[in-house]
Amino acid sequence: MTASPIAWHLLPDTAAVEDGSLTIGGCDVIDLAERFGTPVFIYDEEHLRSRCREAVSAFGDGVAYASKAFLCKAMAKIAHEEGMYIDVATGGEMHVALAAGVPGDRMVFHGNNKSAAEIETAIANDVSRIVVDSFDEMDRIEAIVGPSGTAPKVLLRINPGIDAHTHEYLRTGIPDSKFGFPLTEGIATRAIERAKKSPAMEFIGVHMHIGSQVFDVDSFAKAVGAIASFVNESGAEEFSVGGGLGVAYVEGESADTISSWADTILSASRASGITARIVAEPGRSISAMAAVTAYTVGTIKDVPGVRTYLSVDGGISENPRPVLYGSGYEAMLPRSPLAERPFTTRIVGKHCESGDIVVREADLPSDTMVGDILVTPVTGAYGHSMASNYNKVGRPPVVFVNDGEARLVVERESYEDILLKDLG
Ligand code: LLP
Repeated sequence: MTASPIAWHLLPDTAAVEDGSLTIGGCDVIDLAERFGTPVFIYDEEHLRSRCREAVSAFGDGVAYASKAFLCKAMAKIAHEEGMYIDVATGGEMHVALAAGVPGDRMVFHGNNKSAAEIETAIANDVSRIVVDSFDEMDRIEAIVGPSGTAPKVLLRINPGIDAHTHEYLRTGIPDSKFGFPLTEGIATRAIERAKKSPAMEFIGVHMHIGSQVFDVDSFAKAVGAIASFVNESGAEEFSVGGGLGVAYVEGESADTISSWADTILSASRASGITARIVAEPGRSISAMAAVTAYTVGTIKDVPGVRTYLSVDGGISENPRPVLYGSGYEAMLPRSPLAERPFTTRIVGKHCESGDIVVREADLPSDTMVGDILVTPVTGAYGHSMASNYNKVGRPPVVFVNDGEARLVVERESYEDILLKDLG
């Protein structure tokens, strides 16, 4: 495809070349691979912090980090320290954020099928907002709070019926969606009326989320326009626009910054007369570009007249996105970060499945060989968080780098870990 070196903007903010090899956070990537083994997720802490700060300064107080993109205790702490709320979509995410020391009142609790137990935990921890998604959930909240308990503050998730231009599985604001109360047939209006009347809920505002990996920020402006009169008539004091800002994964893609995304949303809101406080929940745009995954090249197999397959020591288990969404990535060798990449190959994993593709059409230096450390940039979101133990492969460790220091924040899963719940 292309022989050019990796597009540098795809790498974490602190990526640099020192003594000819790639460093992140002042740490040599090949040294990190040797020290922690491969595959390994390497996160640039300064990059994460700077995106959190950008989100807080763009939207102000109330903006939440969508932890489904990437969550571990260290990440929750960083988002919290930088002034973000944490959006948790399950009891499990809430548990991790609480374990990190994030107080409930800095969390926003999501989910289209929250269990009674999850709602109880959220209320017991005094979560800042519950984003209510259905009438059944309202029944559960009412049963838990009772007529005289303290009512949790709620936003109602409304489906604006907007088609954001992204992968089918990543669209959530189209009419055919499991999420939220549809605007059609007065359903959303009924939901708001019920929440306002209920002694078990304190109605604070409206939430929407149109999808994820959305490049066209006009989709957000359109959705804001489509829902504006509803937001105003509902008397919402807060309006959350969800997350969804796309990021560039491969050469040739470009995406808005969090600040310009916020500008688009804030001006669309003003233009449509919304007076509610605007908040958002970016996930991918905070963590995706902060990390690279480092692998070791294990096998290079030429299939004459077809292609060359280059196998690495991971695959679908730590990055299911290529097979789930057909997502593309770039690859590079940290030993020669500025090299031309004329060798086109398919990077595959070690799992027993033909769909186990890491990079469908990768460009690499012509001298790429077995034993090389290879990295895939932009793997900080929805990789570690969607990782599995398929083929009983342990999830890779997570290393945070900053100012020349590397710290292991999540250990590699061992064979013992894989047997931990297996009672025989
Ligand atoms: N808020 C809500 C209610 C959401 O459902 C999501 C993502 C976000 C915020 C954060 O969206 P972001 O800024 O990260 O786009 N596994 C898929 C992405 C699924 C996104 C689900 N919801 C992927 O790997 O692309």
